[in-house]
Amino acid sequence: MKKILITGGAGFIGSHVVRRFVNNYPNCQIFNLDALTYAGNLENITDIQDAPNYTFIKGDIVDVDFINDLFQKHQFEGVLHLAAESHVDRSITDPLSFVRTNVIGTMNLLNAAKTIWAGAMEGKRFYHVSTDEVYGSLGATGLFTETTPYDPNSPYSASKASSDHFVRAYGETYGLPYVITNCSNNYGPNHFPEKLIPLFINNIITKKSLPVYGDGNYTRDWLFVEDHAVAIDLVFHEGKNHETYNIGGFNEWKNIDLVKLLCQQMDEKLGRIEGESAKLITYVKDRPGHDLRYAIDASKINKELGWKPSVTFEEGLERTIDWYLSNEAWLKNVTSGEYAKYYYSQYQ
Ligand code: NAD
Ligand code: TYD
Repeated sequence: MKKILITGGAGFIGSHVVRRFVNNYPNCQIFNLDALTYAGNLENITDIQDAPNYTFIKGDIVDVDFINDLFQKHQFEGVLHLAAESHVDRSITDPLSFVRTNVIGTMNLLNAAKTIWAGAMEGKRFYHVSTDEVYGSLGATGLFTETTPYDPNSPYSASKASSDHFVRAYGETYGLPYVITNCSNNYGPNHFPEKLIPLFINNIITKKSLPVYGDGNYTRDWLFVEDHAVAIDLVFHEGKNHETYNIGGFNEWKNIDLVKLLCQQMDEKLGRIEGESAKLITYVKDRPGHDLRYAIDASKINKELGWKPSVTFEEGLERTIDWYLSNEAWLKNVTSGEYAKYYYSQYQ
C-alpha cells in the first residue's frame, strides 16, 4: 500500500485534504502528522478517524530526530506539507515560532525525504502548500502570477517565502521532486475563529463587536476550502515536478464589503432585524505592515490541469455560516480556555 504523509491534517485546510485523500484513495495509507497546537483539532476529522487506511500521529515537525525516525520507519512515497503557523497577527507578536515551524520544520521534512528517497526519486513527490502572501502586496490593479517576484511583508509571509525557497533549492540542488502551490485566502467549515470570516461569524452569534482593521478597504481573494482541497489533490497527482501553481477564487472582496454581506446573511439566518449585526462593526487600529490587496491569476492551473473553483461565494458563505450555526459545540470548545487570553491581548 502506498504510504502518503500529510502534515497539519488536524488544521483547517489539512482536515479537508486528509478527508478527501482517505475517502478517495482507499489503496493508499494516509498518515496525518499534527502537533495539535491551538489550531489543530481532531474534532475536525472524527468522520474518518476509524477508516482502515488512516493513521493519526501526534508529533512536531521541528523535532528532527522524531521526523527522521518516522520517515525511516514508514518510507513515505509522497508528502503533502500543510503544517504551519498560519496567522499573520500571531506572527507579528511571536515571529520566532513562525521561523521554527515554517522554516525549520519544513527543512526537517525536506532532509528526511531527501535521505529516504536518495537514488530513487522516481515516483516520489514532496508537495509544499504555500500562500499568495509571499508575493507581497498589490496596488489597485494587477494579479499575482507564478513569476511575480517574492516580496513578503509580514513575519508569516517571510517564513512561508523562506520555506518555498528551500523547497525549490532542494529540487535544484538534490533533484528532490517537488511541487508548490500558492493559494489565496480560504474560508469554510472548521476554520479557527481568529481569521476574519470565522471570527466575525462567532462575534455576530455572540453579539460582540466586529473589529475591522484600518479603513476596511483592504482586499482579499476568497476561495472555498473544499475547492482548495480539490486543487491540491489534482496538483499532487497530475502537477509537473519542479512547478509552481497559483490557486485562487477569482473572487475579490474589500474587507468592509465582505463584512457587510456577512452581517446581512447572518441577520437572515438568526432571524434578527436587518442591519442589527452591522451595528457591531467597529473600526480599530490597523495591523502593522497590512498588505493592501491580494489577487491571484489562476490561469495556469486552469489551462494545464483543468481546475477552477466550483463553489460560488454566495453558496460557500451560506454553507460556512450554516456549518458554524449547526456546530455550536465545536465553536464553544475552540473558544474556551486559551482563546480568551489570545482574544484579550489582540483586541483590548
Ligand atoms: P491552520 O493554522 O488551521 O492549521 C495548521 C495545522 O498545523 C494545525 O493542525 C497545527 O496543529 C499544525 N501544526 C502547527 N505547527 C506544527 C508543528 N510544529 N508540527 C506539526 N504540526 C503543526 O492552518 P491552515 O489555514 O489550515 O493552513 C494550512 C497550510 O495552508 C499552511 O501551510 C498555510 O500557510 C497554507 N495556506 C493557508 C491559507 C488560508 O487561507 N488559511 C491560504 C493559503 C495557504
Ligand atoms: P485574515 O483572515 O487574518 O487573513 P490574512 O491576513 O492572511 O489575509 O485577515 C483577512 C483580512 O481581514 C485582512 O485584510 C485583515 C482583516 N482583518 C480585520 O480587519 N479584522 C480582524 O479582526 C482580522 C482577524 C482580520
